[in-house]
Amino acid sequence: MMTMDLFDDLDAPAWAIESRLEQLAPGAVVLRGFATANAITLLADLNRVIADAPFRHMVTPGGFRMSAAMTNCGALGWVTDRTGYRYDAIDPETGRDWPPMPESFLRVAQDAAVRAGFEDFEPDACLINRYEPATRLSLHQDRNERDFTAPIVSVSLGIPAVFLFGGLNRADKSRRVPLAHGDVVVWGGPARLRYHGVLPLKEASHAMLGRQRINLTLRRAG
Ligand code: SIN
Ligand code: FE2
Repeated sequence: MMTMDLFDDLDAPAWAIESRLEQLAPGAVVLRGFATANAITLLADLNRVIADAPFRHMVTPGGFRMSAAMTNCGALGWVTDRTGYRYDAIDPETGRDWPPMPESFLRVAQDAAVRAGFEDFEPDACLINRYEPATRLSLHQDRNERDFTAPIVSVSLGIPAVFLFGGLNRADKSRRVPLAHGDVVVWGGPARLRYHGVLPLKEASHAMLGRQRINLTLRRAG
């Protein structure tokens, strides 16, 4: 739950900042436009990451090709193949370590976590998803991490999407949360294992990214 003291050191009036924070559920918030001012730096750093670890379409344990293209940076990367879901220190495509986590990714994730009420977030994994119009991500829980005490921080860039934010059971009703360029969603504590997903994206174009949405999901995996 947000309290006013989080805003004490900021110049803008508390209401102006608070109006950019929307609570989705206990432990879950959307920070509207939180990453907008850093987008150019984040995308420049992303380009360096994908030069080392290109986007690829992974396969689920059930044999389905995922519609979002993915890559990772940080000490651990999330991967899926016919043997299951896991975190791995090595990129199976290149046989090398994943590229290091850019400072800009770490900074925005830690700042967003603090704004959402989670101190001491030390992410060691960043999954990077690339969506095009019609790409979707089905409802799932993030549960391959070793413990669930750290929050998830999810940064949206590029064309808009509708984020589905559900409950702790797959069958619980989901909220539909429109996410735009620069929006950051943080969920942790009692919300850490909530189901979530992304509806098929509509046709759109963004000034910086064209027909793409990039999502950075920062986690403490190991
Ligand atoms: C994810 O759950 O891994 C990504 C969510 C998103 O793209 O907003
Ligand atoms: Fe997820």
